[in-house]
Amino acid sequence: MSTSKAYSAASATSPLASSTIARRDPTADDVEIEILFCGVCHSDLHQVRNEWNDVMPTVYPCVPGHEIVGRVSKVGPSVTKFNVGDLAAVGCMVDSDGTCPNCQAGLEQYCPNFTLTYNFPDKHLGGVTYGGYSDSIVVKEHFVLRVASNLDLAGAAPLLCAGITTYSPLRHWGVTKGKKVGVVGLGGLGHMGVKFAHALGAHTVVFTTSPNKKDDALRLGADEVVLSKDANEMAKHAGSFDFILDAVAAQHDINAYIALLTRDGNLTMVGAPDKPLPVSVFGLIMGRHSLSGSAIGGIAETQEMLDFCSEHNIVADVEVIPIQKINEAYERLLKSDVKYRFSIDMASLKAE
Ligand SMILES: NC(=O)c1ccc[n+]([C@@H]2O[C@H](COP(=O)([O-])OP(=O)(O)OC[C@H]3O[C@@H](n4cnc5c(N)ncnc54)[C@H](OP(=O)(O)O)[C@@H]3O)[C@@H](O)[C@H]2O)c1
Ligand SMILES: [Zn+2]
Ligand SMILES: [Zn+2]
Repeated sequence: MSTSKAYSAASATSPLASSTIARRDPTADDVEIEILFCGVCHSDLHQVRNEWNDVMPTVYPCVPGHEIVGRVSKVGPSVTKFNVGDLAAVGCMVDSDGTCPNCQAGLEQYCPNFTLTYNFPDKHLGGVTYGGYSDSIVVKEHFVLRVASNLDLAGAAPLLCAGITTYSPLRHWGVTKGKKVGVVGLGGLGHMGVKFAHALGAHTVVFTTSPNKKDDALRLGADEVVLSKDANEMAKHAGSFDFILDAVAAQHDINAYIALLTRDGNLTMVGAPDKPLPVSVFGLIMGRHSLSGSAIGGIAETQEMLDFCSEHNIVADVEVIPIQKINEAYERLLKSDVKYRFSIDMASLKAE
């Protein structure tokens, strides 16, 4: 066992603070990674504050972080894909059973026995897993991804959650040239959704509550921007969308978006508000609309997404922060005041 520096929350109401955690020694098929950057996902905030108590209660201390990019520092003897010194990345999962139908289909994110990167029972050390707000992590090789060296690493980190969570449903629902696609909420996930929908050739429309994000939305690849609080602007798009990706982290009216779907159109939720959202069934019946959800992506698809990003030179737009600014960053995240993802420079942890 070794120790790592980390930032952890001691309770739902405590700020994140410097701490020391244990990491296992790499087993035969493990990769140890020195973490260089870790993105700040709204899921980190939900979990640190125990907002998902009903489905996934938080165990404290909680070390969040599942958008991890770093350099391999050790490998176990059975590891074949990584060498010491390679760039490597880890997303939301660190293990699964490998045998269930979902794992067999490469959809580890739907495995009933998966292990998430933090706040999940740790099979090796007991207690719970600790995430990427830390200087190192040890992960089974199958769950370690390759990052191409042409990508900016601070901007590449958010691809591991915000990237795959938007890429996967866009691909699953056949988003391509000729489709009209909406992205709701221009945050960490949303801005990646815009980049991908644009790169896939779709006519991309951003729905935002923030008038000051309009120019950015166009720069990020949107063809049109709609201020969702303006009923007239919304009405102009009624019945016209093939697909809408909803990446909003809080309560909002999804019926207003279901009304914008064309016949057989689909609204997929990736945003995960803590409370149920009311749905008007008539909005689904009329037009044979579908409402669905999607969780991150499998390991093979995450690698495919990273390779797609390397080829198209896509990374997240990030504001790089030292770990010491993390509590301030959470407050800004709640005010939708980030363009468009915080990425923690883990070198700042050395000062602790
Ligand atoms: N399904 C999955 O696998 C998965 C994976 C990762 C994250 N998530 C979830 O996805 C959600 C988004 O995560 P994120 O990191 O992208 O968060 P984020 O950066 O905070 O972005 C959320 C965006 O939603 C919009 N918004 C916020 N409050 C709103 C409100 N009251 N009404 C309407 N719009 C509002 C804002 O965009 P505008 O300013 O443009 O309106 C904001 O930028 C979170 O709930 C997170 O837990 C799910
Ligand atoms: Zn996330
Ligand atoms: Zn499985």
